[in-house]
Amino acid sequence: ACRWRGLIETYRPYLPVSDQTPVVTLLEGNTPLIPAPAIAKRIGKDVRVFVKYDGLNPTGSFKDRGMTMAISKAKEAGAKAVICASTGNTSAAAAAYARRAGLRAFVIIPDGYVALGKLGQALIYGAEVIAIDGNFDDALTTVRQLSEHYPVTLVNSVNPYRLEGQKTAAFEIVDVLGQAPDWLCIPVGNAGNITAYWMGFCQYKELGKGDRLPRMMGFQAAGSAPFIQGQPISHPETLATAIRIGNPANWDKAWAASKASNGEFHPVTDGEILEAYRILAAEEGVFCEPASAASVAGLLKRKDQVPAGATVVCVLTGNGLKDPDCAVNNSGNEVKAGLKPDLDVVAKAMGF
Ligand code: F0G
Repeated sequence: ACRWRGLIETYRPYLPVSDQTPVVTLLEGNTPLIPAPAIAKRIGKDVRVFVKYDGLNPTGSFKDRGMTMAISKAKEAGAKAVICASTGNTSAAAAAYARRAGLRAFVIIPDGYVALGKLGQALIYGAEVIAIDGNFDDALTTVRQLSEHYPVTLVNSVNPYRLEGQKTAAFEIVDVLGQAPDWLCIPVGNAGNITAYWMGFCQYKELGKGDRLPRMMGFQAAGSAPFIQGQPISHPETLATAIRIGNPANWDKAWAASKASNGEFHPVTDGEILEAYRILAAEEGVFCEPASAASVAGLLKRKDQVPAGATVVCVLTGNGLKDPDCAVNNSGNEVKAGLKPDLDVVAKAMGF
C-alpha cells in the first residue's frame, strides 16, 4: 500500500516537471468519483451518472490541481510573488500554495461578488487582497497588465501550468472507470477547466489508457453565457458568482476542445442551477457550490439527448461550504426556531 503523495508525484511522467522543480503540494487530487443514482434515475435509459467531487481538494476546489503546478513552477523560476484575478476559488488556492512556498500572493477580486468562505480563505491564508470596482473580466485585464510591468507571476488559467495540473482530473476519472465516460458535463466560466479536461483525456488515450474520448458538454449560467451568445458579455450576471464571467480567457482553446469532442455548450438558468444544487445535497448527500451544480443542471436539462446506457460524469468543481449564504437562502428548508426546551413542545414541533 502506498499513501497518496499529491498529483505531481502521482502523474510526474505526464507533467512538465523535473528534478529541479520544488514540488509545492497540499496532497491535492485523488478526489472521489461518486455514483449519483438519484440523478441517474431522473435521466432513465439505464444511464450511469457519477460526480467528480473536486470540492474535496485541500482548499475546496479544483483550482488546487492547477495551483500545485503553477506555484511549483513559479518557485522553480525564482518568483517572489504571484498574482491572480478571481471570483474566489482561484484566490483561495493561490493564497494557500503561494504562502506554503513562502511567496507573496496578490489577489484582485470583484468587490461584493465573492462568496464569504472564499474571501475568508484568501484572508486567513495571508493573501494581499484588493477589491476592485468592476467584474472578474476587469480584474483579469488588470492583473495581466500588472504581471507585464511588475515582478509578479500570473497564476490565472492563462498560465499554461495551471491547465497541466488540472488535466489530472481526467486521468483520475479514466483510472477509476477504466475508460473515458460518454459525456463529461462541466461548468464553464473562464473556460480553463474544460480545456484542461480535454487535454487530459486526449493525452491518456494517446498513452493507451482507454480507447475513447468523451463528448465535452459545457454549461454556462444563462446570464453569463458568452459561448452561447457567440460574443463577450460586458455585464455578466448569475447567482453562481464563481462563473460570473463575460469574456473567457481560454475562449479559443475551449471551442477547439468542444469541436474536437463533438461537444456542445448550453445555458442553464439560476433557477435550474439551484434545483440541481438542492437535488445533489438532499438526495445524493453531496454539497457543492452553485456554479458546480451547473454541470448537473445541464445534464438534467439535456437528458433527452443522453444515449441509452451511457456513462456520464458531472464535474463538481467546488465545495458547498464555500458559499454558506447561498445554502441558507436557497435550501427550501428552514430552522424551526424560538421553541422552549420542553419535551412536549419539541416533540410537537417534530410532528409527533
Ligand atoms: N466552478 C467553480 C467553483 C469555479 O470557481 C470556476 C472558476 C469554474 C467552475 C469555472 O472554471 O473558469 O476554468 O471555466 N473560477 C475562477 C476563480 C474564475 O477565480 O475562482 P473555468
